[in-house]
Amino acid sequence: MRPLVLSCFTTWILLGAVSAAGAQDLQPLPPLEAPKAEQVELGKYLFFEPRLSGDGGISCDSCHNPTTGWGDGKPLSTGYPGSEYFRNAQTLLNAAYYKRSYWDGRLAGADLPTLVRDHLTEAHFMQVDGRLFAERLKQIPEYVEMFKTAFGGEPTFGRTLSAVTAFLKTITSRNAPIDRYLRGDTAALSTEARNGLVLFQGKAGCIQCHNGALLSDQKFHALGVPENPDLFADPLRHITFRRFFRTLGAPNAENYRQDPGLYGVTKEKADWGKFRTPSLREVSRTAPYMHSGALATLEDVVAFYDRGGGQHPNKSPLIRPLGLTAAEKRALVEFLKSLAGDPVVIERPDWPDYQPRKLGQN
Ligand code: HEC
Ligand code: HEC
Repeated sequence: MRPLVLSCFTTWILLGAVSAAGAQDLQPLPPLEAPKAEQVELGKYLFFEPRLSGDGGISCDSCHNPTTGWGDGKPLSTGYPGSEYFRNAQTLLNAAYYKRSYWDGRLAGADLPTLVRDHLTEAHFMQVDGRLFAERLKQIPEYVEMFKTAFGGEPTFGRTLSAVTAFLKTITSRNAPIDRYLRGDTAALSTEARNGLVLFQGKAGCIQCHNGALLSDQKFHALGVPENPDLFADPLRHITFRRFFRTLGAPNAENYRQDPGLYGVTKEKADWGKFRTPSLREVSRTAPYMHSGALATLEDVVAFYDRGGGQHPNKSPLIRPLGLTAAEKRALVEFLKSLAGDPVVIERPDWPDYQPRKLGQN
């Protein structure tokens, strides 16, 4: 009898702890306020438009492609041609829901036009001059027409930012089994996925950070995720890494042997190595994982948590060895897969051609 009583008691404590914290639930994803259809349509063209980059060679979808879960499927992102970036390219699925954007939260999520500007102009992303590409767009009659329909005026930098923002707001989870389940359709999750959910909320403790509608507490934690050695071995990547932290004004950037994450933004010692908890929605489509892309599969992620994460002086006390059985690990992975909805597939539109304007005419 005794062990049974004990285990009921432990379950009771665990459940009590989870519900007492309130925020530690999962919720269905609420719809975002629908952007204007004409702006979304224009934003879609601009999203796939290489003439928005300095050398006309890359577009948003070079690093956020619909066929690779709206990321690039690589551990670390290639930056602007001739450079390399030092973090994993995040998925755009549900990106419009975050309070802070990027792995280190350096931009406010409510201000997506600023994020688009950052992407267009930064040397490591698309390195374009806003006036230059507005001039390019003005030489393409179809775009002139589309800007007029969407904004009542000609192509400008600011309107481009708004149109791409409108498009980003439409890249969201659709019809995910987890949402059907949370709305009361128990059969939407397989028995194994439901077992995984129980572990997620209980023994594995994932819910402590992956909660709410996004399955993210939107806070920053250090897990001790290993860095990608390329950060130091590949000179182009290392140059971007150093320049990035120098630009943020982070002290002694030349000595960093790790990505400092949130510290680069706040310069608070306690924030060294912390990254924003990512949403787990659509996660089965967005491998490889973590800011460094160090974990290739969901099985690798679960194994990482099971052994208590990595080594890190600031490691969250919530990350500790879990003692999961092989069946429990499989169930957790099955649950993670139930977080993906219907694929959000958008075909690249045909680019309209330049029709250079003649001085004093058209
Ligand atoms: C050269 C590759 C590259 C290109 C091109 C690119 N991105 Fe990104 N994007 C990234 C990387 C890498 C990150 C993560 C950066 C970080 O956290 O330091 C990111 C992050 C984002 C995020 C934040 C997601 C989140 O979860 O906070 C959004 C939104 C985004 N990109 C949109 C865009 C848009 C819109 C465009 C086109 C204007 C674009 N990106 C072009 C590489 C790229
Ligand atoms: C202490 C808070 C915390 C707990 C507990 C936690 N996570 Fe995380 N999770 C994070 C943070 C922070 C990251 C990003 C870390 C990084 O990139 O360095 C992350 C990343 C992930 C990723 C990668 C997502 C991506 O887009 O790359 C997956 C998958 C994941 N966690 C699943 C889980 C599972 C499953 C559990 C339970 C076994 C769990 N997490 C427990 C905070 C947490």
